[in-house]
Amino acid sequence: MKWLSLASACFLISHLVQCVPVDSDKPAPSVQGKHFDRMVVIVLSDANYADAIKDPYLSTLADRHQGLTLTNYKGLALPSQANYVGMISGSTSGVVLDSDANINDRKTVVDLLESKGISWKTYQEDYTPLADGSCNSAKNIGNYVRYHNPFMAFQSISKSPSRCQYIVPGTQLDVDIKNNAVPQFVFYTPNVNEKGGEKTLISNVSSASSWLKEFLEPKMTQDAFSKDTLVVVTWDKQSSVTTNNHVLTMLLGSMVNRSSKSDGVPYNHYSILKTVQDNWGLPSLGQKDVGATPFILKDLAGKPKNRKSFFG
Ligand SMILES: *[C@@H]1O[C@H](CO)[C@@H](O)[C@H](O)[C@H]1NC(C)=O
Ligand SMILES: *[C@@H]1O[C@H](CO)[C@@H](O)[C@H](O)[C@H]1NC(C)=O
Repeated sequence: MKWLSLASACFLISHLVQCVPVDSDKPAPSVQGKHFDRMVVIVLSDANYADAIKDPYLSTLADRHQGLTLTNYKGLALPSQANYVGMISGSTSGVVLDSDANINDRKTVVDLLESKGISWKTYQEDYTPLADGSCNSAKNIGNYVRYHNPFMAFQSISKSPSRCQYIVPGTQLDVDIKNNAVPQFVFYTPNVNEKGGEKTLISNVSSASSWLKEFLEPKMTQDAFSKDTLVVVTWDKQSSVTTNNHVLTMLLGSMVNRSSKSDGVPYNHYSILKTVQDNWGLPSLGQKDVGATPFILKDLAGKPKNRKSFFG
């Protein structure tokens, strides 16, 4: 009964006091946002919008979780890596291929978050840090590929021991949920291939859909993951090389404005960064984030101010 030895925090929720164990080393989310207190970005790889939207789970996912399907959302580039780099830095930063990027002259979302004490982690499924805790710059680790991990593309992160500790394997997420220690900004990259075998599995919509269902559904029932959280599910880029990089993106969470059934506003991967900035009142990075359109969300203002108040 490990949890009995930990301190408990209690929440007053409509006449009921609920207590949950708290790991005192790892505080619960603390910097309140305008629309959400946590953003979880999950990036799948290589699917055309038209193919992904036909999948029975993906096409109903938004409705299951008070969400919205964005019908006019575009990737930034081909091949993959530049899309990930753009999501966290507001620019493809000169990256054109999937070879190791080591950018040394750009700021990222990490600089913005840390400037306000907002916790972050990237969970990269098969990734493991080096034994001394520093960043592992390997191209492949199991079915992890470095070109889907933009945090490794910036030397301000990959050469910083204090930041390397926030690049963690996928398994750490369940541990963090159990300890009520999920950070306020989460960037999750699944393996390119869940079951071993050919790398092309990632471009198979139905295998991506089954992976997502198994990964996401249990987590959505846990407050430590989903409470006041905006979940963004997106694809890095389309699978074909000929069209306009139209990818499926879904926003899930109680702050999503469902006044229309779907949202056809033109967004792209820079909208993620812009929404982070908007939510926590952070400055821009002076790149394409400046002109990007943030997601249209309801605010959390109607909620009790001290919804994390401590009674124990
Ligand atoms: C998708 O991948 C799974 C697992 O490898 C395979 O069984 C299935 O036939 C594939 N589907 C398509 C449409 O390629
Ligand atoms: C939701 O969006 C609609 C249409 O843009 C807007 O009129 C409405 O005020 C929004 N609702 C909230 C609660 O923000």
